[in-house]
Amino acid sequence: MSSIDLFQNPLRRWGKDGKRRPTVLVKELRERDRRRMVKHFIGLEDSDRLLRFGTVLPDEQVENYVNRIAFSRDMVFGVYNRMFKLVAVGHLAFAPRDESKSAITEKDRVAEFGVSVSRSARGLGIGSKLFERAAIHCRNNDVDTLYMHCLSSNKTMMHIAKKAGMEIHRDYGEADAYLKLLPANPASMLQEALDEQFATLDYTLKANKRIAAKWFDRLTGRK
Ligand SMILES: CC(C)(COP(=O)(O)OP(=O)(O)OC[C@H]1O[C@@H](n2cnc3c(N)ncnc32)[C@H](O)[C@@H]1OP(=O)(O)O)[C@@H](O)C(=O)NCCC(=O)NCCS
Repeated sequence: MSSIDLFQNPLRRWGKDGKRRPTVLVKELRERDRRRMVKHFIGLEDSDRLLRFGTVLPDEQVENYVNRIAFSRDMVFGVYNRMFKLVAVGHLAFAPRDESKSAITEKDRVAEFGVSVSRSARGLGIGSKLFERAAIHCRNNDVDTLYMHCLSSNKTMMHIAKKAGMEIHRDYGEADAYLKLLPANPASMLQEALDEQFATLDYTLKANKRIAAKWFDRLTGRK
């Protein structure tokens, strides 16, 4: 299994076309974001729901999935666009290590990552950035293996996994990918704290801008 330091070898900020991509600010999501999460997942087309959940999850089950997320145990990350719309969600689910994972890690917990980006926001590095953030969070919380399960036909996700140095096992059209992580260090701690602070600032600005726009519309009778 390969092991990389995401700081020595960061997922790059340039696309294949050589153009620089905009900075992506990844924010931890909480209870108050559940409604927006449901909206994001329901906005995914059937083919994307299949890739994300392994089945074309109906709206009702999407809602159940979001309502069942335990924020006290798992981490959920999101990216808001300029219009304060949630355009991407990454769910890092933690579980106690079981027999099947004992060959992969000696740590008490394992982490599994699932991600989706709205079509309008793809190709900007958001999926990669969410993955990078999940990996840093694992590192800083004594989890040394990041696991991902997806269809092996999912070329974009396979590309992101390979780019991050994941070891991939393919079986009957499905793929299990593992990334071995280095232990936490002061730089990884600082990086995660700074990422979250910048994203929180950005979130607050966008939220206030939206409130101000709503007030303006009401005052001028536009709505
Ligand atoms: C997979 C997904 C999260 C990627 O999100 P994204 O924000 O577009 O990803 P990024 O922009 O960070 O990176 C996409 C990379 O894949 C590459 N890519 C895009 N289509 C590709 C294809 N058909 N084959 C190979 N690589 C491809 C891009 O060029 C880019 O590579 P680069 O960063 O080296 O330039 C998004 O497509 C999605 O939500 N898909 C549906 C749900 C899903 O598949 N989830 C994963 C299973 S858990």
